[in-house]
This record gives sequence, structure tokens and C-alpha cells, in this order.
Amino acid sequence: MSRPSASLAWLLAAWLLLVLALPAQAAGRERLSLDAGWLFHRGEVAMPAVKGHGMSYQNGKANNGWGAAAADFDDSAWRRLDLPHDWAVETPFDRNENVSQGYRTRGIAWYRRYLQLPPSDRGRHIELQFDAIATHSTVWVNGVLVNRNWSGYNGRNIDITPFVRYGDDVNTIAVRVDADAQEGWWYEGAGIYRHTWLVKRDALHIATDGLHANPVKQGARWSIPVEVTLQSSDKAAREGLVEVALVDPAGREVAKGSARARVAALESAIARVKLDVREPRLWSLAQPNVYRVQAVLRDGAREIDRTEVQTGFRSIRFDADRGFFLNDEPVKIQGVCIHQDHAGVGVAVPESIWEFRLRRLKEMGTNAIRFAHNAPAAEVLDMADRMGFLVMDENRHFNPSPDTLQQLTWQVRRDRNHPSVILWSIFNEEPLQSTESGYEMARRMVSEIRKLDATRPVTGAMHGGLTTDLNAADAIDVVGLNYQIWIYDDYHKKHPKRPLTSTEDTSAFMTRGEYASDKERQVFGSYDDEPSSWGNTHRQAWKAIAQRPFIAGGFVWTGIDYRGEPTPYQWPSASSFFGAMDLAGFAKGAFWIHQAQWVKDRPVVKLQPHWNWPGREGRPIHVMVTSNAQRVRVLLNGREVGEQAVDPYEMNHFQVPYAPGRIEAVALRDGREVARDVVETSGPPVRLVLTPDRPALAGDGLDAVPVTVSAVDAQGRPVPLAQDKVGFALEGPGAIIGVGNGDPNSHEADKASERSLFNGLAQVIVQARREGHGRLKLRASAEGLQAAEVELAVNAATAPPQVPVAEPTTPLLSWRVSPATVGRPDPNVVLAESDMNSWGWDEPPMRRGPEAEAFRLYRSNVNVRADRNDGRAQLTFGSIAGKAEVWVDGAKLGEKTDAAPAPFAVTLPRGVWRRQVTVLVQAAPGQPSGILGRVTLERGSP
Ligand code: GAL
Repeated sequence: MSRPSASLAWLLAAWLLLVLALPAQAAGRERLSLDAGWLFHRGEVAMPAVKGHGMSYQNGKANNGWGAAAADFDDSAWRRLDLPHDWAVETPFDRNENVSQGYRTRGIAWYRRYLQLPPSDRGRHIELQFDAIATHSTVWVNGVLVNRNWSGYNGRNIDITPFVRYGDDVNTIAVRVDADAQEGWWYEGAGIYRHTWLVKRDALHIATDGLHANPVKQGARWSIPVEVTLQSSDKAAREGLVEVALVDPAGREVAKGSARARVAALESAIARVKLDVREPRLWSLAQPNVYRVQAVLRDGAREIDRTEVQTGFRSIRFDADRGFFLNDEPVKIQGVCIHQDHAGVGVAVPESIWEFRLRRLKEMGTNAIRFAHNAPAAEVLDMADRMGFLVMDENRHFNPSPDTLQQLTWQVRRDRNHPSVILWSIFNEEPLQSTESGYEMARRMVSEIRKLDATRPVTGAMHGGLTTDLNAADAIDVVGLNYQIWIYDDYHKKHPKRPLTSTEDTSAFMTRGEYASDKERQVFGSYDDEPSSWGNTHRQAWKAIAQRPFIAGGFVWTGIDYRGEPTPYQWPSASSFFGAMDLAGFAKGAFWIHQAQWVKDRPVVKLQPHWNWPGREGRPIHVMVTSNAQRVRVLLNGREVGEQAVDPYEMNHFQVPYAPGRIEAVALRDGREVARDVVETSGPPVRLVLTPDRPALAGDGLDAVPVTVSAVDAQGRPVPLAQDKVGFALEGPGAIIGVGNGDPNSHEADKASERSLFNGLAQVIVQARREGHGRLKLRASAEGLQAAEVELAVNAATAPPQVPVAEPTTPLLSWRVSPATVGRPDPNVVLAESDMNSWGWDEPPMRRGPEAEAFRLYRSNVNVRADRNDGRAQLTFGSIAGKAEVWVDGAKLGEKTDAAPAPFAVTLPRGVWRRQVTVLVQAAPGQPSGILGRVTLERGSP
């Protein structure tokens, strides 16, 4: 065997070196949670005034983020927290703040986050995604302004590839949130209140929201014309193979196809695949069969990206005479409008709490949700698909200007695969609705939607303006009517070909657990006799809708209470009275009315009020029984006090002379009992009870469970009027993330470990820690009552993969570099502020030469963080080639006497915040020189 020749050995070595030096083959798509480890500062951090030539010049440049937007800003005193975060709900109630925003303080705040990217990410497409920020937001990455958004509800997907650094360098994300800006007349929260993500993909990848898979039915045949939008940030054109598969609800692949697409550098292209599907299982309200469409992108055989969306096979149609049809069956829309805040957590609502809210709405018989008046969180629409709701998906701003159209198209692209979404809504109660201008605006918005989705009709919620010659209703497919039930017949007669739906109705007031309205106390009774002046009672509104087949259905204002809009009251009332449920999801009278009107698949009956009326013995009490049976009978202490045929609209009302004891409502069908509700007079409270919504949580840092807190008497009967103050303690791998009780007049804190019962109930929300497992022990105690304790299992669960939190390093990024000189220059030479050209601009690594002249000066500034200003911090140079002197603010701090490239560091004495750093480098003859590694200010060892 002959020895390999020297040159072959050299080649082999070179090849090996090359292979080792190449970044490791990066994985396909990584979608990493960026929720953990943010730094937060409530209040403005004023930007320094731009003055003087030097600063003005720099201000005109790409990386001009000043103050808290700068990469090296001192945030050492900021609070550390995890997103989602709503700072408004943390603030106390303040009567000087806006009633519409629930008397909470909004203002301005900043968030910052540090992260590193491995060198293997170089060449990939790096996208920063914010699912929503309230309200106006500006985002900087490494001091470069990368995004501005003027919507508190829209996500933004920001390609940050050009701005990021890899390896040891630390990247800084800075977000300024202006929540003084308001979009709504309801509580909107403040801050980064939905999730954030870092999505890493191959340079050639499937665009965000780039998979469009909406089944269509032609005759009896179903197919899915799948469109996959590819994007490339690569430097040359590439070709990709897209494989698409349809997976049925049981997880079986039932159809597949593929297509190729060529994508030019920095362009996009669409790969189209048509999937034919034989006899799919239809998506319906009773059986919400959700299919998944998966798209895999390959470069040759290698998978480089993958994504999937939910979809469902259903047909929808609005008929001008007969209303809405799902799968060719008429379905009356039994809908509610809801906003997005919940007790304890504000608008930073965990998905599992959303699931709870939606489950409560299902229980009430709701089959449709209008997310008023803005885009909901993506996860909530996934839930609506799986739970079987119809969704009216609403755009926030009625405006076809470029910025707002972009918000609309973002929403349509994100939401157009969901079987639950049956209507796009482009506006709500717009003063311009009646005008030609309103028509022109609506027309443009509809046209934009059609380009992205031609399968769903567009509506708009009109509260008048329908009688003009040309108005917004002329541009939309389904005319949405807010309130105005008196106009239904007339409008239908005048426009017999126009499909109609109520987009908002009712607006009646109730306080949970109260049975008489009282202006002094600012409470409303629960008998549904307090409509607003523009609205109707729950019963009147539904009767008007239910009796007219040409009205597709209705959306009650609202399903659940929300902060703000405590109409008709103001301070101290801080949240609404409109909900069929209170802010914690506890049922009010309207919940039971709608349940009786809407639930068809099981018998229901509910008796109101409670039966604790001391001092009212012998006097009549108004008893309301709500049921979907044929007849209802009321018994008091075993004796019948009345029986009536069920009135499906008005419900059933009895006057029952009060005697303490047991009152019952029996629901009858064909003479037989099908359901019964029992209410008993209780004694004083003696014991607390904790009832978790579920017995176990996933230890993923996301899952949260609402726990109902109530009080019972000596016999274990619920005490409806208990108002005791309850304290909570939690042990184990989790935390209390909020408390509430549904009282619109309460000023108790949401973020607290205590809460008073309100009319017998309160709610405490516990969340499991990430990587948590074991048991949570929640204890509730109140003065004079026996404490309650409950255990919740925390099961080990996989949290979404995270972007690790990096520590700030105070990088010195931007350097001026003098021309080379033969002789030693003065390191403290003053460079004229207006001189932008005689010294160059550079960023480490800065290699020069070899060159004839030996000396150069390198100059930068360091912003010294408080946690580095202790006289021990090290100004570290990854590597300096050549001999060097390091000068800070005119004083020499260190000298590197060996010319060979090596790391170097000097200790920075305690001092002012901003320091000038000058490095005098002397090259060894014939050798390159310069600052080769990164320069940072590191914490010194104690
Ligand atoms: C409507 C409006 C809703 C809410 C409601 C209260 O006019 O669309 O957002 O304000 O009134 O009744």
C-alpha cells in the first residue's frame, strides 16, 4: 500500500476542514416559543433629543434605535416576566382613567428580550412573529426598526434575517408599546398579550399562512384546490417539491399529491395541488370533523419545511328567504358576540381558559360566535373548528387604505381554511355606512377579500343608514343588522334578494345573583326585564329572530361580560352588565333563558331565583322557570304551586308565596318528567368549597384551570348570598395567575391571592409551571369559615420548544476606524463631529492589512449598564491582532504587548454611563491587524 502523496493528504485535510467548518445541516422548520424571559418597563423611556451633526447623521441611518430601542440600553433594573402579558389588568382601578377601558391605566411601556442564534442558522430564514400587541407597537432588532403596527389585534410576521447575528453575539429585540392609543370602546388590555414566536426555516420555505386548503363541492364531488405559497430569501433561484397530504379525523392519510415550483431569489411562487376526496366526513355542529392538510417542502429528497392547517368539509349558503344553510340543512344562527378578556387575566387569556369559555357557551346552546370587533387569537379559531361553532370573523378597521387593507388581508390569509368561519365582517356600526363613501370603501375591502377567498360571504354590521340610495349594504353579500328589529320585515320586503342576519342584538342588563334592580347599588335583576334603550330583552330579540326564517339568526350582545362599557352606569361600575355570563363565566339569568331557547338535544330546566328570602315569608316571589320541555310544574316543599305550558319565548313565570325550604321545577314531556331543578334555602355559610373545572393540568407552562370558590352551609347547601373574603395559597409546580368574581362593581385586584365571593361565587385561576409535574395544592380560607383544600395533578407534558434566554452583553457594535499611519497617532485625537468620512465605519471583526503603515485607531462608545458599573466589569476583545493600547475617556486602561492575535480585556473603572473607547493598534510588520473578535462589556467576577 503506497502512502498518499503529500498533496492528496493536504487535499483530504482541507476537505475535512471545510466539512467541519460548514454549519451543521439545520433542521427543517423550527417554531420556537419566544414567550419566556422578557424584560419589562412600564412607562415611557424617552428617546434622547436628536441634536448636533453627529447624532443627526446617525439618526438617518438604519440602526438608529436610540434609548431603550438600542441594543446596548441599560435594562438592568427592568422586571423580568413571561408573555403573554397584559399590564393594564395589573393596574388599580382609577376613576380618572377611561370608563370604556374599565378605568385601568394604559399608557406606554417597553419590552426587551435577548437571544442568541447558533452559527448553523446562518442562511436560514428567521422570522419574528407577534400574535398581537395592544395597541400601537414599534419593534427593533439590534437597534434596527423592523416593524410598526397600528392594530392591537393583528399579528405581524417580521423577516429579521438581515438584522440578526449568529454565534456568540447576542441579539436584542426591543418593543415599544403605546397603549394610550385606543381602538375600541371596550377594555383592550395593554402589552404583548398573545404569544410570540421565532420561526426558523430554510431560505426556501412555505410562506407564513401560505397554505390555503379550502374544500369545495361541485355537484356531489369534493375536492381541495390546495395552494402552497413558497418564498425564498436565497441568493439564487431554487426549485422545490411540495407534497400535500390530507389526513382524516382518525389520522389516516386519505389523499395526496405533489407539485414543483421554481422560486427566484427573494420572490415567491405558488405550487398548486388538487386533492380529490371521495365521501369525506362532513364538518357539522354536532360532528365537527376536522381534517388536516399537511404540506412538506423538499429540496431533492431532503425535507426543508413543513406546515399544516385544519380544514373541514362543509357547504355554506345564505338564502334571502330561508336563512343560513350548513351542508344544505337550515341552521338558525344562535350566536353571541364576545370580547376577549376574562376574570383575573385581562386579555392575556390562556388557551385552556378560552376552551373553558367556549365550553360554557356550548352548554348555553350557542352555535355561533362573533369575535367582536377584531381578529381573535389563532388558537381560538382552531378550537371553534374542533368544538363545532360557526364564526363571524371580524376585521377591526373599516378602511381600505394600504395599511388597514394589509390588516384585513393578513386576517383572511390566516383564517381562510377554518371550517368554522362562515362570514367575514368588514365593519361594525360605521358612521360612513350610509354614504357613497361607505359603499366605495366596503366595495374595495370586499374585492380584496374575494382575491384571497371567494367561498365565504362578506357582511358588515349596520346600525342604520340602510335607506339611502347607495350605502355600504349595497357592497356586501349578507346584510348584517345591529338591533333595529323593527326594520326586519320592511327591509326584507324592499330587498327580497338580500340575505339578512342580525349581527348584534339584545343588549340587556343583568348582574349575576341579583334579582332586583337597584340604582343605588348599580345592580340589575336577572329576570331579563332591563333592556338598553337601543336594544331588547333577550327574549324579545330572540323571538323577533326566531320567528322570521329570512333572518339567518342572531348574535346576542354579549355571551360573556367584559371590562369597560359598564353601560348604563359609570364609576364605580367598571365592567359590563350585558353578558349572559359574568366575567368569570358564571351563568346569569340570560344563560338559562338561551339554554332553554337553543338547546335541542337534551331536556333542560332551571329555576330562578335563589330561595333565601328571610323576612319575606308569605309574600310572593317571582319565580322564572326556563325549559325546553313542553310543560313545567313548580313544587314548594313537595306541594305543587303551579303548572304551565312552556312558553319558548317568554319563559314561564310564577308568583310563589315565600316559605323557606325546597322549591323545585319539574320539566315535563308527554306528561313525563324529563328534568328537574331544585333550589333550597340555606343557612349561614360554614365552609368553603373549591371546585376545579378539571382535575389535572399539563405541566407545559400554558395550561390553566379555573377553580370555582363557593361557600356552603352546615348541610352542604350552597349559600347564594355569601360575600366572604377568601384568601388563597398554592403549593407545588404552578402559580395563581388571577382571581375574579364577576362583580362589575368590584375594585379588588385581579392579580392577587385573595378575592371576595360575590353572591356566593369567586374564581381563582391556577397555571402549571413549564416542566412541572407533581401535585398542586390549593387552599382557600376565610374568617369564620372552614377552609377548603383541593389537589390538582400536574402531568409532565411537552412544552413548545423555546428560544433560550440570553444574558445581555453590551456589545460595542459600531466603530470608526482611522486611516493607517506610519507614526503613532494620538489616541485622544478629536475627530470633528461633522467629519463622517475621513475615518471609516466598521463593525467587528475588523481585519486590516497587511499594510505598509503600522498604526490605526479604532473608536467606539460603550453604554455601561448599571449591573456592569461596579469597577469590575471587563471590556473584552474576542481577539486583537497586533500590539494594542486600550484607552477609555482619555485614560489608558491596558496594553497588549504581544502582536500575535489573542483575546484581550481591560477592567473598566466605575464611572459615567457612556464612555468613549479608543483602541490603538500597531501591526506587526507584514501581518494583518485589527479587532478580530467581538467586543463586549461583561460582568466581572466578584
Ligand atoms: C353596539 C356596539 C357594541 C357595544 C354594544 C352595547 O352598538 O356594536 O360594541 O357597544 O352596542 O350595547
